[in-house]
Amino acid sequence: MVSSFALQAIAAVLSASSVSAFQIGSYQTETHPKMTWKRCTGKGGSSCTTVNGEVVIDSNWRWLHKVGDYANCFDGNTWDSASCGTNAACTKNCALEGADYSKTYGVTASSDSLTLKFVTKGEYSTNIGSRLYMMKDTNNYEMFKLIGNEFSFDVDLSQLACGLNGALYFVSMPQKGHGTPGAKYGSGYCDAQCARDLKFVGGEANAEGWVPSSNDKNAGVGKKGACCAEMDVWEANSISTALTPHSCKPEGYSVCTEDGCGGTFSNDRYAGSCDANGCDFNPYRVGVKDFYGKGKTVDTSKKFTVITQFIGSGTNLQELKRFYIQNGQVIKNPEPQVPGMTGNSITQEWCNTQEKVFQEEVYPFNQHGGMASMGRAAAEGMVLVMSLWDDHYANMLWLDSNYPTEKDPEIPGVARGECSIDSGKPEVVESENASAKVVFSNIKFGPIGSTFNQPA
Ligand SMILES: *[C@@H]1O[C@H](CO)[C@@H](O)[C@H](O)[C@H]1NC(C)=O
Repeated sequence: MVSSFALQAIAAVLSASSVSAFQIGSYQTETHPKMTWKRCTGKGGSSCTTVNGEVVIDSNWRWLHKVGDYANCFDGNTWDSASCGTNAACTKNCALEGADYSKTYGVTASSDSLTLKFVTKGEYSTNIGSRLYMMKDTNNYEMFKLIGNEFSFDVDLSQLACGLNGALYFVSMPQKGHGTPGAKYGSGYCDAQCARDLKFVGGEANAEGWVPSSNDKNAGVGKKGACCAEMDVWEANSISTALTPHSCKPEGYSVCTEDGCGGTFSNDRYAGSCDANGCDFNPYRVGVKDFYGKGKTVDTSKKFTVITQFIGSGTNLQELKRFYIQNGQVIKNPEPQVPGMTGNSITQEWCNTQEKVFQEEVYPFNQHGGMASMGRAAAEGMVLVMSLWDDHYANMLWLDSNYPTEKDPEIPGVARGECSIDSGKPEVVESENASAKVVFSNIKFGPIGSTFNQPA
């Protein structure tokens, strides 16, 4: 213990000289789980080389305690008022701790796979879900330049019930995260909801004006939010799946304040600089109800491969194409069965059609730059996120049920999956489906056609 207190003292001195430096606790060494993936060149998956990657858990999940002391700075869903009277004081007084990935967070990596458990009962706390980022090395996120490339992964989400979401997506986070050390402790998250549930925004604590959640004992909403473009390659459970670009202006990390953030965490969902809704392709939502699910064409009771192509060049993202592979069979994304909709991929035209056919009253994707915005973000390089979560705002009904729930499910766009409108309540799934997990594995990335044999 003596040595750890000494380290804390050194950390405190170092941080005094630099702005927005995080204090780092020394009770638990930060050791990123190692996870390999493959960079492919050539054709049909024939020449792929192994990349030794590692993953890091987001700083929001970490124990935050007083510098040199076990006392919590953030306890449950509230900040300690003595240490965190101001954001500046809080940033100085509180230390982020290293993670025990498997024991505390239910996260394990093994060769090319990553397993995320839903509920993990630790010694001191019960952890719900997790969010991890792929790293290039200890201090840098891997930046994936998506345009002209395809991204392939295997997923087993057979245990993900209504209300859970095993997500794999990209966001325009800064390569080094925020503050020092940044990415090593999983800082710098942002997304198209302009996330306000973050304990740190822009490298500083988000304690001032924090409102604890009324229905989530681990979360709350701060004054500041972090916005950036988001490419949801995969939001799914065993019932439904969606592929969804979200545009932003600007695409890169930007800090917003209060209701001006828009998104899930603000009173006016459409006030912000990002598209909170997205332009999605969910097979069920476009009328193909027998395509995805247990026992269906893509059988979610077993593992399968998901391939997403980012067709285009330069900053021009023309088309998002999807294929699946299961039992050695390549399965094309289905053609929509809603009158007026055509094409099995996402293009700007697809989004324009969706806006009309689904009679959306607001369609923020186009207001914030549409595919052109997504293209700029994708060309710049984006951080790979893998997460498992439940939804304290809408019970994930926008993914797997009828939504908005009060609308007639016969109206195109309302029915998104087979789950009941009463399903997905966090308190229910956290108790009844606590042992659920998602496994992501066999990630491959490279030019179009390099990861698999694409049918003509
Ligand atoms: C989730 O929990 C419910 C209630 O116990 C159970 O019926 C269901 O099978 C579980 N779902 C999955 C996918 O394990």
